[in-house]
Amino acid sequence: MNIKKIEITVYEAADIRELSREDAALLAKAAEATGNAYAPYSQFHVGAAVLLENGEVICGSNQENAAYPSGLCAERVALFYATSRFPEAAVRAIAIHSSTGGQAGPEPVYPCGACRQVLLECESRSGRPLKVIMGGVQKIQIVNSASELLPLNFHLSH
Ligand code: THU
Repeated sequence: MNIKKIEITVYEAADIRELSREDAALLAKAAEATGNAYAPYSQFHVGAAVLLENGEVICGSNQENAAYPSGLCAERVALFYATSRFPEAAVRAIAIHSSTGGQAGPEPVYPCGACRQVLLECESRSGRPLKVIMGGVQKIQIVNSASELLPLNFHLSH
C-alpha cells in the first residue's frame, strides 16, 4: 500500500498589522460582528465577514437556539446571506473572530466541519479561491483556499 501525505499551507501573523489592508479591514469587521451574536448557551460569540468580488462585505454572527441543532454558526449565517443576496458574485474571502464576555478571543477561530463544507461549495460554485482568515488576538492564520481546510472532500463535481 502507498502512503500519501497531504500538506496544507497556513500563513501565520502575530498581529493584524502584518495583514494586507483588505484582510485587516475584513478581520476588523468580523471582530465587530461578534457584538451581534446570540449565544446565551455557549457565551462564545463568533463574527464572520464575507468579502464578495463585487466589493460587498456581508457580516454574520452565530445564532443559537434552545433546541441546539436549530442554531447556526457565524460563517454559515454570513455565507448564506451573502450568496442569497448576490448569487452571481464569487465569495473571495471570509474572516472569522470570536469573543467571550466582551473579550476578543486569543486563539484563531477554526470553522467547524459543516462550515468547511459550505465554504468549499462557495469555492467550487465560483471556481475562484476563497481565502479564510482565522483571527485571534495572539495570532491570525490564513489559508488561501477553502479546500486547504477540507482535504479529500466531497465536492460539486461528484
Ligand atoms: N461557532 C461558530 O459560529 N463558528 C465556529 O467556527 C465555531 C463555533 C459557534 C457555534 C455555537 O454557537 C458556538 O460557537 C459554540 O460552539
